[in-house]
Amino acid sequence: MMTAICPGSFDPVTNGHLDIIERAAEIFGHVIVGVLKNPSKKSLFTVEERSALLQAAVSHLPNVEVDHFQGLLVDYAKRKGARVIIKGLRAISDFEYEFQMALTNKRQNPEIETMFMMTKNEYSFLSSSMVKELAYFGGDLTGLVPDQVIAALDRKVHTRGLSND
Ligand code: PNS
Repeated sequence: MMTAICPGSFDPVTNGHLDIIERAAEIFGHVIVGVLKNPSKKSLFTVEERSALLQAAVSHLPNVEVDHFQGLLVDYAKRKGARVIIKGLRAISDFEYEFQMALTNKRQNPEIETMFMMTKNEYSFLSSSMVKELAYFGGDLTGLVPDQVIAALDRKVHTRGLSND
């Protein structure tokens, strides 16, 4: 059975991420959603909160597992027995950074392949940063993120801002 990893910060998960995860789950026998725990990068949600929101959003997909990792993605993939990393591409603007990451990862471990999927057109503008900005300023998030994420964002922006200043 082929295992693929869908890595990301997922701060928070969006319907764009879920589209990629669902499509990966149709192709691969086992999909691990790897949530990056990065102590040096400020995130709105903790890794536990990000994982719980993802878990709720993928509960209808029996072959999808939510996990988190620290350190190099290729090392994590190897530990998990995954040969494939799945990334979503939204626009040409994503390409340069994704290309750089894919080649870096390939050099670190040539056995692991990065494969790209184009996002659905309707999510091509969507990002976690935009979602946070909309939430912070009271924008409408309907259809962009799961309902549980809307509720979690509501709670979060009322208790804490996006920055420490
Ligand atoms: O959702 P994001 O923030 O765009 O995801 C980026 C992610 C998690 C895929 C990337 O930051 C990553 O792989 N981090 C782990 C560290 C690593 O392996 N770095 C070397 C390749 S860039």
